[in-house]
Amino acid sequence: MMGLTKISVLSKLIIPMALLGISCEKQNNNGIEEAPVISTVETTLQKEMPFKMGAAVNVSLLKNNTNYRNLVVKEFNSITAENAMKFASVHPSKDTYTWSEADYLVDFAITNGKRIHGHTLNWYKSLPDWVTKFQGTTAEWENLLKTHIQTVVSHFKGKVVSWDVVNEAINEDGTFRNSIWVQKLGVDYIGRAFQYAHEADPGALLFYNDYGHEFGPTKRTAIINLVNNLKGQGIPINGIGLQMHTRVTQTDSNLAAAISTAAATGLLVHISEIDIALNPDNNQSLTYTTDLGVQQAAKYKAVVKAYNAIPKAQQFGITQWNVTDGDSWIPSNYSRPDWPLPFDAQYRRKPAYQGILDGVK
Ligand code: XIL
Repeated sequence: MMGLTKISVLSKLIIPMALLGISCEKQNNNGIEEAPVISTVETTLQKEMPFKMGAAVNVSLLKNNTNYRNLVVKEFNSITAENAMKFASVHPSKDTYTWSEADYLVDFAITNGKRIHGHTLNWYKSLPDWVTKFQGTTAEWENLLKTHIQTVVSHFKGKVVSWDVVNEAINEDGTFRNSIWVQKLGVDYIGRAFQYAHEADPGALLFYNDYGHEFGPTKRTAIINLVNNLKGQGIPINGIGLQMHTRVTQTDSNLAAAISTAAATGLLVHISEIDIALNPDNNQSLTYTTDLGVQQAAKYKAVVKAYNAIPKAQQFGITQWNVTDGDSWIPSNYSRPDWPLPFDAQYRRKPAYQGILDGVK
């Protein structure tokens, strides 16, 4: 009876498991040689990793591309909207809010048991014309900032668990970016943005998000100082997002320093937008090679290893920016061939995928 059951189960599993590339293990039960027992549990990032693994998701691909959707459902347990929650997407004119794309994503996340991270309430990019052309007094600009933040946070209250409140406010040289927000409201608007978000949803975890912590001490120190100053003033900030749009030539020590200095603030640390470019020098004729894939795997492993070393209570998770090399923003944004993600354009796992798993071994 036992033997028959095992054979029939095996015959059902053997083809799909082989297709998935799962290995069979031979087990020895009380010294008796038995047929190989196949593990029915497939490796996925969300199952293997000791912290949340996320992806920035494009809503139109999620709706229209089954391979894309299936991969997101299978691998990740945290979702960030690539663009659907940005200012221009949800608030295209002064008195109009358009929620349908973002709501679709939030419903998808909740239905599939995934955390949803909000991105982003305040940025110098993705602003609709009505904002960039807005003529108003300081008080009217303050009202615009506050109303936008509180309307968006209130809409998703109880569903979106965390927000990138302010995105990319610091320049590479450590000065404040001369954004429209700084021009109209001064740098103290940053703290008020956090307070407005907190008033609208006191339960939401609030992050300051930026790139380039790994470039070196100049930008990283400025970001850490900003965050520590906010904390010191009693501003409700819970975490720091390291975008980590990085490159295979970045040193492991710079990547580790980015992560450990963020952790030293005591705040949650989110690697919020990772991708590891293989073609940072914009070589138009570069092709993907096995060697590049191996180098990329080692770099993903180094990042994950450094992240795994910070206190567990501070590990908010690692989110990759986009899902596969086929939908990554890098090739179109920088007009070059590149392969920055752990999945290729055919939805297959690259060596980088194993690099991520190896980072927590
Ligand atoms: C990018 C999106 O991926 C693109 O589709 C869009 O055209 C521009 O924005 N840092 C961020 C993200 O915080 O919001 C950016 O996303 C990538 C860089």
